[in-house]
Amino acid sequence: MIEDIEISELRNLCQVILEKYKYDFNNYAMSSFKRRILRILEIYKISSVTALIEKIKYDPIFFKQFLNEITVNVTEMFRDPSLWRDLRDKILPNLFSTHQTIKIWHAGCSSGEEVYSMCILLKEMGVLDKVKIYATDIDEPILAKAKEGKFTSKNMIDVNEKNYIRLGGLHKISNYYTETTGGFVKMDQSLVQNVTYKTHDLVKSGVFNKFDLILCRNVLIYFNQQLQNEVFKMFHESLFNYSYFVIGSKETLIWSDVSSKFIVVNSEEKVFKKVKE
Ligand SMILES: C[S@@+](CC[C@H](N)C(=O)[O-])C[C@H]1O[C@@H](n2cnc3c(N)ncnc32)[C@H](O)[C@@H]1O
Repeated sequence: MIEDIEISELRNLCQVILEKYKYDFNNYAMSSFKRRILRILEIYKISSVTALIEKIKYDPIFFKQFLNEITVNVTEMFRDPSLWRDLRDKILPNLFSTHQTIKIWHAGCSSGEEVYSMCILLKEMGVLDKVKIYATDIDEPILAKAKEGKFTSKNMIDVNEKNYIRLGGLHKISNYYTETTGGFVKMDQSLVQNVTYKTHDLVKSGVFNKFDLILCRNVLIYFNQQLQNEVFKMFHESLFNYSYFVIGSKETLIWSDVSSKFIVVNSEEKVFKKVKE
């Protein structure tokens, strides 16, 4: 089993991926990127980074699996319930006090739990039909899972339901899904009628619309500061003035080039408001 990888080997790997598949991992945070590579070598019983590079070069199907492994997809519904309370009680009402309709972008939506959380929240606020949502991710298979809206019953009960109760949801979370076979639940598809799923790579895809609220949670943590800075600029450009930006609880934009163009609305939940073009 390989225990460590040289930075130069990671650079070679990133170069091949960039040339062949046009994904740029050069500015991902190297320590977690290296951990993921070591894990991939172990799972697929690949003997060295050189052997991994050869496999990636000649096996596009394997590359899809590789991409899925490299992008951390861990997520849950109503992750950090206090943020969702803030969205329900302050941020969304504030937006609707001046807007008839709003546009939301979930960037790095993974398997869709965050999107369903938003749709349930909006439905309980009575404004689901007044919102257009874009849900994007770099990873196509994970987006396909998001579209399918099928989650394990175990996660639903052990994690999602607990978060929903902590948030103080209006009903039972089971109102929003039906049990299917094999230990899965299928989410109510009427919730996501106004959701567009699309692949979007934060490293290179850039601005594609303007939004009143962007959530990009627990994604930037995998990027180095230089890349985070570029992505923050892209989000700033994608937001209307006086609209909101939410990042993960362990992330911050305070040091970035655009920090003076935002004010902090909730420092605990990492909610920012764009105040300058
Ligand atoms: C840990 S999940 C976060 C999911 C959700 N936002 C949450 O907080 O629970 C990180 C997601 O970011 C996506 N991701 C990683 N790099 C990306 C990139 N360059 N562009 C878009 N999405 C990316 C991954 O595929 C993964 O689904």
